[in-house]
Amino acid sequence: MRILGIETSCDETSAAVVEETGDAAKPWTIRSNVIASQIPIHREWGGVVPELASRQHIRDICGVVDRALADGDTRWADLGAIAVTQGPGLVGSLLVGVAFAKAAAAAADLPLVAVHHLAGHIESLILQNGEIPLPAVVLVVSGGHTSLYLVDEPGRYQLLSRTRDDAAGEAYDKVAKLLGLGYPGGPVIDRLAKTGNDRAIALPTTRLTHADRNAPQLKGDLDFSFSGLKTAVARYVRSRAAQESHLSQELQVAQDLSPAFSDQEIADISASFQRIVVTALLDRLFEAARRHQAKSIGIAGGVSANSRLRAELADRGARREMPTFVPSLKLSTDNAAMIAAAGLRKFRAGVLAPMTLNADAALPL
Ligand code: KG4
Ligand code: ZN
Repeated sequence: MRILGIETSCDETSAAVVEETGDAAKPWTIRSNVIASQIPIHREWGGVVPELASRQHIRDICGVVDRALADGDTRWADLGAIAVTQGPGLVGSLLVGVAFAKAAAAAADLPLVAVHHLAGHIESLILQNGEIPLPAVVLVVSGGHTSLYLVDEPGRYQLLSRTRDDAAGEAYDKVAKLLGLGYPGGPVIDRLAKTGNDRAIALPTTRLTHADRNAPQLKGDLDFSFSGLKTAVARYVRSRAAQESHLSQELQVAQDLSPAFSDQEIADISASFQRIVVTALLDRLFEAARRHQAKSIGIAGGVSANSRLRAELADRGARREMPTFVPSLKLSTDNAAMIAAAGLRKFRAGVLAPMTLNADAALPL
C-alpha cells in the first residue's frame, strides 16, 4: 500500500509518497519526499511570519503534491490513503494542508488519516532505521518543541517531560539573531562552534527540581528550560558591546548597537552556548532512559541535525552499550515522509479521520 503524506505546519510545504514493504523489521520505504522551503522568505524578517507562511503554502501545495506523485512514479489510483499533519503548528499553515488533504481524499475517494506533527518526528526514526528496540525514550527537539517521550509499543507515545519556556531550536535561533548570524540559527551556530572554545564563556545551566504547576501529572525534574541561557548570552553580548564603545549598558540597549565581534569570539560564544544545550538535552535523555529501563534511545526533529548532539549521543550510547538512533539530515527537519510513515502506522491501527477534520494549533499528543 502507498500513502500520500502532506506537511504544512510551519515554513515547509512538503508532500511525500511512502510505501509499505511487508517487512516487519523495516516497515516503510520512501518513494518520494518533496520539500519546498520558505526559509529565504522568512530570513528577511529574522523568523517565521505566520501570514506569509500560510500564503506561500497556498501557492506551493499543488505543485509540491504533483511533484511528489511524479517523483514517486505514483498515480492517484495507486494510493491507499492520504495522511496530513493536523497540528500542532501555525493554524493558518496547518489549514492549507488539512483543506488540501480533505479535498484530495474526497475527489480521489481515499481514506484520510490525521497525524500529530511530533508523532511524525518520532516515526522518522523508524522510517530511517527500521523498528527500534522498545521501550525507547525519544527526544523530539525542534524550533517549536523540546519533549521527551516514552515509546513502549509501536505507535504509543507517552510524554515524560518538555520545555517550560523556549524550545532548544528557538534558543539557537534567538542566539543567532543576537550575534547577527541570520535565520535559521541552528545550522550556522553548529558550523561556527566547530572552531570555537566551548569553555571560553561561562553560561548557566538551568536545572528544574519541582513539578510544573501547569502539568502536575509530570514529575518535572526532567523538564527543560532554555530562556535563562538565551538571556545570559544576551547579557554577555550587551556587556561586551558596552566595553567596546565605552557606553553604559543601558545606552547600548537603547541604541541597539551590536558589538563588532571577531570571528573567534563569535565561534567561542557559539561553542559555549552549544555545549550547554547539548549537555542539557543528553543528560535528561539518558536519565529518562535509565529510569524507564529503555532498550534504545532516539533523537528526532530539526535540532537532531546538530553535529555535536549526534556525536555525543553516539559516544554516550556506545559507552553505556545503549543503541541510539537519529534520522537522516533530510528526515530531521520538517518533511512529509515522516507524516506519511506515522499515517501508515495509524491507518494500520484502523484510526481514520472524518471529513469534518479541522486543524488544531495546540493538538496534544
Ligand atoms: O523540525 P524543524 O524543521 O521545525 C520545527 O518543527 O520547528 O526544526 C527547525 C529548528 C530550527 O530552530 C533550526 O534552527 C534548528 O531546527 N536546527 C538546528 C540545526 N539544524 C536545524 N539546530 C541546531 N543545529 C543544527 N544543525
Ligand atoms: Zn518539526
